[in-house]
Amino acid sequence: MITVRVEQPADIAAIRQANDRAFGRAAEGAVVDRLRVACPDVLSLVAEEGGRVLGHALLSPVLITRDGVSVLDGMGLGPLAVVPERQRQGIGSMLVRASIRAMRARSCPFVIVLGHPEYYPRFGFERASGRGLAPQWEGIPDEAFMVLVLDERAMEGASGVAGYRSEFDQAV
Ligand SMILES: CC(C)(COP(=O)(O)OP(=O)(O)OC[C@H]1O[C@@H](n2cnc3c(N)ncnc32)[C@H](O)[C@@H]1OP(=O)(O)O)[C@@H](O)C(=O)NCCC(=O)NCCS
Repeated sequence: MITVRVEQPADIAAIRQANDRAFGRAAEGAVVDRLRVACPDVLSLVAEEGGRVLGHALLSPVLITRDGVSVLDGMGLGPLAVVPERQRQGIGSMLVRASIRAMRARSCPFVIVLGHPEYYPRFGFERASGRGLAPQWEGIPDEAFMVLVLDERAMEGASGVAGYRSEFDQAV
């Protein structure tokens, strides 16, 4: 049985390995390791089976700013990683759904994701540009920068730059 739960200290090496293998490079796993130390507000979830980490999702703070002024705090989902031999078996979906449930429980108004435009809309993500939200980085394809709105009222008028923590800068 596959279960999704909050990471434990004993998972840290396996989380790094899952990210490195899923992405075929070290950048995403390095972001996870940096944020775990630097940011107490991250939520790190693992999908495990029989004690083996098969997938991982990180949620970290995203701040909407306009003209340099803070507008609204939310969260960003990513990196999301499933070990290559277990992809396309629903594990990524379990992690995304658990992430959304956790963000709802925290009364988080929105979740940003930068990723495959074919994958995330099935969970309710839509183009962030349609909500007047832009990434802090140049050159991001419009369709890859998405938002899931969890609190419509809080999001009213909340447009601007949706910025991830600076730890992500080296991975984009
Ligand atoms: C993307 C990823 C997290 C999805 O997890 P998963 O467990 O494989 O996905 P699920 O089994 O929940 O969902 C399968 C669906 O995801 C979609 N999907 C999987 N990988 C995809 C990709 N690279 N691009 C687009 N869609 C993808 C497929 O449409 C598939 O649908 P299908 O069953 O109709 O073919 C996983 O494939 C992965 O770790 N990939 C490498 C790292 C990565 O790209 N991470 C995401 C960054 S945004």
